Amino acid sequence: MDGVVVRFTVNGEAAAVRVEPDWTLLRALREGLELTGAKEGCGAGECGACTVIVDGRAVNACLFPAVEAEGAAITTIEGVAAADGSLHPLQRAFLDSGAVQCGFCTPGMVLSAKALLDRTPRPTEDEIRTALAGNLCRCTGYVQIIEAVQAAAEEMSG
Ligand code: FES
Ligand code: FES
Repeated sequence: MDGVVVRFTVNGEAAAVRVEPDWTLLRALREGLELTGAKEGCGAGECGACTVIVDGRAVNACLFPAVEAEGAAITTIEGVAAADGSLHPLQRAFLDSGAVQCGFCTPGMVLSAKALLDRTPRPTEDEIRTALAGNLCRCTGYVQIIEAVQAAAEEMSG
């Protein structure tokens, strides 16, 4: 493959990946870097399963052109737990609240919630709902997910 090399940091590590001009960031992460935590659901910006954080903002990686990630700081679900493997408060709260059923939506949900809590440590319920509005879940009915984000926010802000 010819393509172009895109350089960015992912989960704090420098990465370089060769992509075709029409590749999405999701494809670059999954096929180029074997980071398969971001899921491909709709592939059309509708479900949020592919959500990653780019420069502090939750984005749909299935729509984000890989070449536009040049120089960006990217966080995927693989980088959310601590280096020693201990879960992020959001991950623990999702498990404790029963907010994970099939788990397909969970990486995207956690990253949308993390982007919110990183900028708004004590969000209102409305702010949580707005931040997660682009993330669909077929299983939970959302109540446990909202509770999990509230619990994590409480824990993280002491
Ligand atoms: S796979 Fe990206 S929004 Fe559905
Ligand atoms: S837990 Fe199954 S889609 Fe959300």
